[in-house]
Amino acid sequence: MEFPKQKKEETYRSLLPQIEALVEGEADLTANMANVCALLHTTFGFWWTGFYRVVGACLVLGPFQGPVACTRIGRGRGVCGTAWAEGATQVVPDVELFPGHIACSAASRSEIVVPLWRDGEVIAVLDIDSDRLATFDNVDRTWLEQIAALLAR
Ligand code: SME
Repeated sequence: MEFPKQKKEETYRSLLPQIEALVEGEADLTANMANVCALLHTTFGFWWTGFYRVVGACLVLGPFQGPVACTRIGRGRGVCGTAWAEGATQVVPDVELFPGHIACSAASRSEIVVPLWRDGEVIAVLDIDSDRLATFDNVDRTWLEQIAALLAR
């Protein structure tokens, strides 16, 4: 069942202090990514929720929830590599219309990818996939960018 759009805003608002509490006592980024993707995934019932970390010339799979995913993505490749190269959130209502989209799962229909910044560099991306079209909008973008900033600080 799709998460009701009218409940998204208040749900993100109630998640933010939980995420603050989760990450403030823990300095390890991988541990914090693991908890944040579990919280987002179980709260909203997304298809796939996870992180790719910048390691040299690639994005490498980090903590995630959902089906098995591809492990490495080049800069500028797919939605994730584009978010990294452009340093900008990508909201994709229909993945089939995104040139170069990397289909880790045939069930994925829409996607959002948010960069995590530290010291002026993208250090990772948060990638969320939905099995429905047009799941993500500016509400998701605004809140997920705040969550990404909390994680990376
Ligand atoms: N679809 C992504 C690849 C990662 S998976 O969705 C988990 C992309 O095009 O970058």
